[in-house]
Amino acid sequence: QREKDQQLKTLYELLEAATTYYEDQLRTNDTRSDAVNYLKSRGLSGQAAKAFSIGFAPSGWDNLLTHLAGNDPEKAKRLKEAGLLIHNEDRDSRYDRFRNRIMFPIRDQRGRTIAFGGRVLGDDKPKYLNSPETPTFHKSRELYGLYEARKHNSKLDKLIIVEGYMDVVGLAQYGIHYAVATLGTATTDQHLERLFKIVPEIIFCFDGDNAGREAAIRALKTTMPVIEDGKEARFLFLPDGEDPDSLVRQEGEIAFSERLAKAQPLSEFFFKSYSENADLDSMDGRARFSTDVLPAINSMRPSLLQQMMLDRICELTNLSLEQLQTTVNFHEAITP
Ligand code: UTP
Ligand code: MN
Ligand code: MN
Ligand code: MN
Ligand code: MN
Repeated sequence: QREKDQQLKTLYELLEAATTYYEDQLRTNDTRSDAVNYLKSRGLSGQAAKAFSIGFAPSGWDNLLTHLAGNDPEKAKRLKEAGLLIHNEDRDSRYDRFRNRIMFPIRDQRGRTIAFGGRVLGDDKPKYLNSPETPTFHKSRELYGLYEARKHNSKLDKLIIVEGYMDVVGLAQYGIHYAVATLGTATTDQHLERLFKIVPEIIFCFDGDNAGREAAIRALKTTMPVIEDGKEARFLFLPDGEDPDSLVRQEGEIAFSERLAKAQPLSEFFFKSYSENADLDSMDGRARFSTDVLPAINSMRPSLLQQMMLDRICELTNLSLEQLQTTVNFHEAITP
């Protein structure tokens, strides 16, 4: 165990050193101008870059390797464990994972760097590269920007979940300091449990494109079993083609905050999306609608919201609560 702790400590130290190295390169590297110009072209302020310790990984195969490990093979091994190095077993060659990218350090709740996201400077693919799972990084649990949000305000009352690094940074630059992003994965129940321990309200705000709308439906299904009395989830949908970063830059903090204030409550989004293609005017349609919605309602914890949503289904279908209960295997969730 002691050995394991020591090994973890080494990983954190390397990740911290890498954070400093990438930040330094954005300020001093001879080839930094492309990176600086790229960030300028995106309207990123120096202050925002600093608040998120944004950096630059220069091109080349071994800049970080040489800087942090020199010729020490033990250190190189640790760098690989930290997710910063790729080891090609066939050719027994090691090289930097992140090359010619804008670097976003991902921090844990204590502010330690645990991983990185790296963005290409142009339109190459993949656009974003993330650290792999490592002993310090479990992406289904971590949220980009959570440390920075709590550092900015220790008494948060709500958090926004967005898709990307630039959404978090762009919103913060425009005064909305309470956005976090999942890291190239869907929102998990672990993310939600963690956030609901910190704030009573979560607003999902994904991109105004098909992927974003699908992510919202998935988030709805993940949130329903997690929600409990005293907690609230809402959904903000953006105009086609926009994401939080592009929109806040266009319309500013006040207009964006007004959108947030009008975000749809979970129940509203739920009924809208489930009744969209339902025919509530026919008996058959109402029966089918009931069959569709009940599993989701059944996934919820016993709560006032669940009872009210059930009441609403009764209204929409003209069924009594008893009729709903007998047709679907539904007892555990609604009987105390
Ligand atoms: P998007 O595809 O919406 O990013 O991915 P974007 O808004 O176009 O990016 P910018 O604004 O041009 O920089 C949103 C998030 O999905 C993950 C990243 O976390 C990204 O921030 N992603 C995206 C990846 O992990 N890999 C990718 O290749 C693309
Ligand atoms: Mn995109
Ligand atoms: Mn998108
Ligand atoms: Mn974007
Ligand atoms: Mn986007």
